[in-house]
Amino acid sequence: MIYLDNNSTTRVDPRVVAAMIPFFDTYYGNAASTSHSMGWEAAGAVENSVESMARCIGAEPRELVITSGATESINLAIKGVAPYLEKRGRHLISSLAEHKAGIDPIKRLVKQGWSVTWLRPDSTGMIAPEQVAEAVTDQTSLVSIILANNETGTISPIAEIAEVCHLQNVTLHTDATQAIGKIPVDVDDLGVDLMSFSAHKFYGPKGIGGLYVRRRDRPVRLIPLIEGGGHQRGLRSGTLPVPLIVGMSTAMEIANDLIPTETVRFIELRDLLESLIVAELEAVTLNGHRVERISNTLNLSFSGVSGEALMLTMKEIAVSSGSACSAADPEPSHVLKAIGLTDDAARSSLRFSLGRFNTEDEIRTAARCVIESVTGLLRLNSAMRN
Ligand SMILES: Cc1ncc(COP(=O)(O)O)c(C=O)c1O
Repeated sequence: MIYLDNNSTTRVDPRVVAAMIPFFDTYYGNAASTSHSMGWEAAGAVENSVESMARCIGAEPRELVITSGATESINLAIKGVAPYLEKRGRHLISSLAEHKAGIDPIKRLVKQGWSVTWLRPDSTGMIAPEQVAEAVTDQTSLVSIILANNETGTISPIAEIAEVCHLQNVTLHTDATQAIGKIPVDVDDLGVDLMSFSAHKFYGPKGIGGLYVRRRDRPVRLIPLIEGGGHQRGLRSGTLPVPLIVGMSTAMEIANDLIPTETVRFIELRDLLESLIVAELEAVTLNGHRVERISNTLNLSFSGVSGEALMLTMKEIAVSSGSACSAADPEPSHVLKAIGLTDDAARSSLRFSLGRFNTEDEIRTAARCVIESVTGLLRLNSAMRN
């Protein structure tokens, strides 16, 4: 299997596995046990890990909350901050380029009486600061915009959006799940107040993520979603999963260090994949921004063939289609539709997301396989029409 679905999840890096193992069977204490050395060891490992992650993103350790993943982080950010922001106003701004994990918590707020403006990305998938500025009203208290989109890879100018937000005294959350480990992410450079991320997208374990909550200037207050025990300053109770925390921080350190070299390598491999495909097939279009895009992501539409059918014929390649699920009648992706694709064009799209363990040979094999499958399906379609 050639795995080109790294935006969906990644293989855990062997160095990460090695770092985690002692915390399953040797240092297995509860980080909240203050009465013995097993607890202190676990607490020390958590402290070191949180410090290291904070360093990677330019935060202070007390500004990080450990969660079960980005879905929980986004829920905590949006639902947690809302009760404090209500006094300022119950209007928020988000975009049609968000992941479902960024959309559904907002829909919940709408059921509770909030109003929302959904910004439409441009044809490259980007949200412009001017759109945010135009949508702000005297009732706006929260903006939530994705940093790098999981389907197209397009990166939106969050630092400029933050400037708009701060001028208007509006809190800004960004979903950085696809950005961490792929582009340098610094909470001060970005100017964000809340930022979500997840370890399994950067070669860490599944079931662990984090939320950055600004506390220095413009401190942000949150109501917890999960209570009981008062762990993590009361923001997220529950025994800390020490091996997963050690794994997430090791993965983040490695990914952060590798950004310069991996970016160059991914761009080479990604552009090779695209050029091999485009050289042989007509009517292939790129979805997303050609430049302002995370380096591992290539989203292509193959006019006249269904992405689902393509995936079925390419059993040896793991990719994603432009559909939300693989049910009998899959819904076309809301993100691809938002950037202007028809239902058919969205359904004819495939997302290739490269990862650390892909080789050039794999990319060449994958390109050949895509070309053969698309050609075969087009031939079949035309034979059925005649
Ligand atoms: C942009 C984005 N946000 C949020 C999520 C949800 O992350 P998790 O699986 O950690 O809950 C994902 C994962 O698919 C994602 O790509």
